[in-house]
Amino acid sequence: MDPLVLSRWQFAITTSYHFLFVPLSVGLGLLVAIMETLYMNRRREIYRRMAVYWGHFFLISVAMGVVTGIVLEFQFGLNWARFSRYVGDVFGPPLAIESWAAFFLESVFIGVWLYGRKALSIRMQVFSIWMVTLGAMLSAFWIISANAFMQEPAGYVLRNNRVELVNFLAVALNHKALYMCGHTILACIVTTSFFVLGVCAWHFLRNTAEQDFFRRSMKLAILTGLVSLLGVIVLGHFMARDMAQHQPMKLAAAEAIWETRTDGRESLFAVIDEPARRNKVDITVPWLLNVMVFDSLQGTIKGMKPLQEEQVVLSGPGNYIPPVTLTYWSFRLMIFSGITMLLLLLVLAVTVFRRKIVLPRWFQWALIAAVMLPHIANITGWIVTEVGRQPWAVYGLLLTSAGSTAGLAAATALSSLILFTLIYTVLAFIAASLIIRQIKKGP
Ligand code: HEM
Repeated sequence: MDPLVLSRWQFAITTSYHFLFVPLSVGLGLLVAIMETLYMNRRREIYRRMAVYWGHFFLISVAMGVVTGIVLEFQFGLNWARFSRYVGDVFGPPLAIESWAAFFLESVFIGVWLYGRKALSIRMQVFSIWMVTLGAMLSAFWIISANAFMQEPAGYVLRNNRVELVNFLAVALNHKALYMCGHTILACIVTTSFFVLGVCAWHFLRNTAEQDFFRRSMKLAILTGLVSLLGVIVLGHFMARDMAQHQPMKLAAAEAIWETRTDGRESLFAVIDEPARRNKVDITVPWLLNVMVFDSLQGTIKGMKPLQEEQVVLSGPGNYIPPVTLTYWSFRLMIFSGITMLLLLLVLAVTVFRRKIVLPRWFQWALIAAVMLPHIANITGWIVTEVGRQPWAVYGLLLTSAGSTAGLAAATALSSLILFTLIYTVLAFIAASLIIRQIKKGP
């Protein structure tokens, strides 16, 4: 077994687990902050009860996010030592600020918010939960700006066989980081909104006595869900445009385009033959791709074959085409999930805001199932971003194969893969049982 493949599997599995909890901790922080603020302004007890109830889920997801995040970092030394050495100078500042934001701002104010309820004024309570939310978002921003460097490197020089930081602001304010950050943080709020909607639907199905409590929670989740999902879609459109300019191979793979295309045909369903570098079946609609990427009927999307030839001239012999089938279907799953969520939210908004919530039972079951949709979109979104970047670890600079730990034995890689997967599975079970218990318990 190839230790590189094992290391990549390990990173994919552990980050996917981690990203089940991160969106909930970022989004629930915001929702709880809104509930606390409503309580401060309107002085109605129900908003405080809402903040306390949803706050339990928030605390579970923060705890799981931190634990799974810390374990994640061990892999940089264990499996990706050459990568860590290569990017260390650039990654150092954003990751150090991230730890500062996460551990100081978030953890200090979580303590104030959690234990200060009886001792502190409501203003201080509201201030602390907003600081926690700010800390979580800042933390996400700095992690993503490091990741954005791997997509579109900026603010560095190549020296001593590694990248060295020369312009910190260029790394922090890399336009890629801003797009990714906006898209991801809004996706976190979408994820949380659907979690809240699912829990509310479950309580309605059980004819809960807390009708008012869950109706208000649902209304808030519809509002945050709609606003954030629209933001995710608009930013997603700009990211696709950016991809056409800066990572054309990723876009060509996400669209399964082998030869340069000028007619703007958007592929809806393709059966891809990667070894033969062609599509056996490709059902397309005209113009849609150009409209999505260029806001125009005109436009040229370079195909993977010519891009491969160009890259060989630039970087030497090799295969520079990422896994196409995985990238293509992940892209479609993310967009499909996004559109399904939008339809669900629109139906909900019309029903709930026009009259009392009387949702059919099947629709409530659909809402419970829909809790998974944003998670599917998140994981497939990250697959597009990370798998679509292959074979590069740092786009155009460092190959993934050159970033793994030198001399890492297959047995070591396999045992850490098994160990990490087991630890994360146990953690996921613990989190799931805590969350289910809290749902059943009710407010
Ligand atoms: C429906 C329209 C959507 C479009 C057009 C879209 C577009 C994109 C694009 C182009 C990327 C890859 C960026 C890159 O590698 O350069 C991406 C990544 C991602 N997407 Fe989406 N997306 C959509 C919906 C969603 C939804 C609904 C979610 C989750 C609720 C989501 C979550 C993510 C995540 C987590 C990533 C990886 C992080 C990142 O690169 O920002 N996306 N999306």
